[in-house]
Formats: sequence, C-alpha cells, structure tokens
Amino acid sequence: MNILITGCLGQLGTEMRLQSTAHPTHTFFFTDVIASEGSDVLDITNREEVHAYVRTHRIGLIVNCAAYTNVDKAEEDETTARKLNAFAVENLATTGTKMIHISTDYVFSGNENTPCRESDSVDPRTAYGRTKLEGEQLLLQANPSAIIFRTAWLYSPFGNNFVKTMLRFGREREELRVVYDQIGTPTYACDLATAIFAAIEAEEWHTGVYHFTDEGVCSWFDFTVEILRQSGLKCRVVPILSSEYAYRTPRPHYSVLDKAKVKSTFGIDIPYWTDSLAHCLKRM
Ligand SMILES: NC(=O)c1ccc[n+]([C@@H]2O[C@H](COP(=O)([O-])OP(=O)(O)OC[C@H]3O[C@@H](n4cnc5c(N)ncnc54)[C@H](OP(=O)(O)O)[C@@H]3O)[C@@H](O)[C@H]2O)c1
Repeated sequence: MNILITGCLGQLGTEMRLQSTAHPTHTFFFTDVIASEGSDVLDITNREEVHAYVRTHRIGLIVNCAAYTNVDKAEEDETTARKLNAFAVENLATTGTKMIHISTDYVFSGNENTPCRESDSVDPRTAYGRTKLEGEQLLLQANPSAIIFRTAWLYSPFGNNFVKTMLRFGREREELRVVYDQIGTPTYACDLATAIFAAIEAEEWHTGVYHFTDEGVCSWFDFTVEILRQSGLKCRVVPILSSEYAYRTPRPHYSVLDKAKVKSTFGIDIPYWTDSLAHCLKRM
C-alpha cells in the first residue's frame, strides 16, 4: 500500500519515518510544509494540492501527523490554528482515502478526576482544543471510517517538547518551579508510532476513536523530577500550584486517558512512562 505521512518533520512524523523501515511491504511518501531531504513539500491547508498529491501517488492510506500544536499561539490566533487543525484535516478526509489522524486530550475539559474514555463528553476549553475537536468532527463527517488516536504530553528526541525544555533549564538553573496540580501521562512519540503501525498492520481496519498515552500517571512536577533524576542533573525542583504560574492559556487539571480500548482492539502492550523516558533520553 502507498502510505502518505504528513507533518513528517514533527515529533511523531519523525518517529513514523524511522519505524517505516520495519514495514517494507508498504511504500511511504513523507511530506511537510517545508522542504527537507527525502520528503516532499505538501501544505495540507491547500485542498487542490492535497487532492492532486493523493491522486498522483495513488495513496491508499494517510497518516496525518501535521498540526498546529502551540497551545498559547493558538489562543492568540485561532483562525490560523483552525486552518490546520480543522480545515486541513477536511482537505485530507475529502480525498476519500483511508485515514489515521491524531487528536488530543484538550478536547476534554480537564476537570474530571477519572481517566477519560473515548465515549466521554467533549468540552474543550482552549482554542487548540476547539480546533482539534473540529478537525475530528470534519474528518468523521467526510470519512466515517477513519481512525483517530487522541494522545497527550507528547515528547521525543526531535523538535520542541517538555523533556528538552526541562533538560535545558536543568543545566542552566539551580531551581525549577513546576506545577503539581495538573495530572496526566507523558507519551513517547516512538510508542505512539508503534501503536499507529499496529493499527496499520491489523488484519482488520478498526474504525473509531482511541486513546493512547504511555502507562501510569504523574504531574508535570513528577515528570520533571524524573527527567532530571534520569539525566543526573542536580537542579532542585519545587512543586507549585497552577495558580502560582502565569499561564497564558488554561491547562487541563486532569487529562489521564483510559487506554483499555486501544489495548484490547490492537492487542498492544504499552510501556510505563518512566521506562519510555529512559529510552528517549538514551537516544538524545
Ligand atoms: N505535542 C503534544 O504534546 C501533543 C499532545 C497531544 C496531541 N498532539 C497531537 O499529536 C500530533 C503530532 O504532534 P507533534 O508534537 O508531532 O507535532 P509537531 O512536532 O508540531 O509536528 C507537526 C508538523 O506539522 C508541520 N506543519 C505545519 N503546518 C503544516 C502544513 N500547513 N502542512 C503540512 N505540515 C505542516 C509542522 O511544521 P512546522 O514545525 O514548520 O510548523 C511540523 O513539522 C498532532 O496532531 C498534535 O495535535 C500533540
């Protein structure tokens, strides 16, 4: 099958590309909005170009790893975020091609205190969450057989993410103040890519929405302590409340995702978050 990976230069896109070599029965086409060796330029906000690319390359499956992921910037410029997180998803969906799309825990309010299931009511509180939810809805309207993976707290050795920021701060500063009242689960992009490949290689196509993060639960404070501990950095980490941090955009208080459905459907084991963190740090 010919598989198109959009946003291939991002965190998840890069992991998809690395793992694609283990799937030689497929032919992969990697694209992003800027030029890079081994990938094509494809701006997914341009419907004509998207449709032409899919037709020309006889694409049988699209894995959409492209998104507007800056939560604070999305709040300031929801229109641009919507173009990429919603309308561009519709551009891909209307090609009529099989599709795997990535969404987020931000579609929920973050005010619950039990792990969110796929069937729970959505209630986004941010521009990022709203535009990502619209993307899900437009996708399912145009292409009801799509697969959607909702994930959270994504990190990898590539691009910008929390792990890389904390490593930098941990080297530069003596003390870090990090919130302990926002609870979730980190997701190593490598593990998410493995789950996506499990969906691709499954004997049947399992349409639907799935929640995927690594196993376990922690706060951003716990995550930071573990990043520094595993890296041997001596910086002191002070737990603070969200009310003590000047957030530009509201953050979910609790965004743990229930992963029972993804595990039973695709028969996958998900690594514990500290083990995945160790794997990532070794590669950095
Ligand atoms: N990061 C997280 O913590 C997180 C949490 C939950 C869910 N997710 C979801 O997981 C998915 C993957 O996230 P990620 O962290 O891997 O994202 P990422 O690193 O920001 O990668 C997204 C890629 O899409 C590219 N892109 C931007 N505009 C484009 C356009 N018009 N056409 C084609 N490509 C374009 C970006 O290029 P530029 O960098 O040049 O803009 C970037 O290479 C996204 O759907 C995201 O919403 C992420």
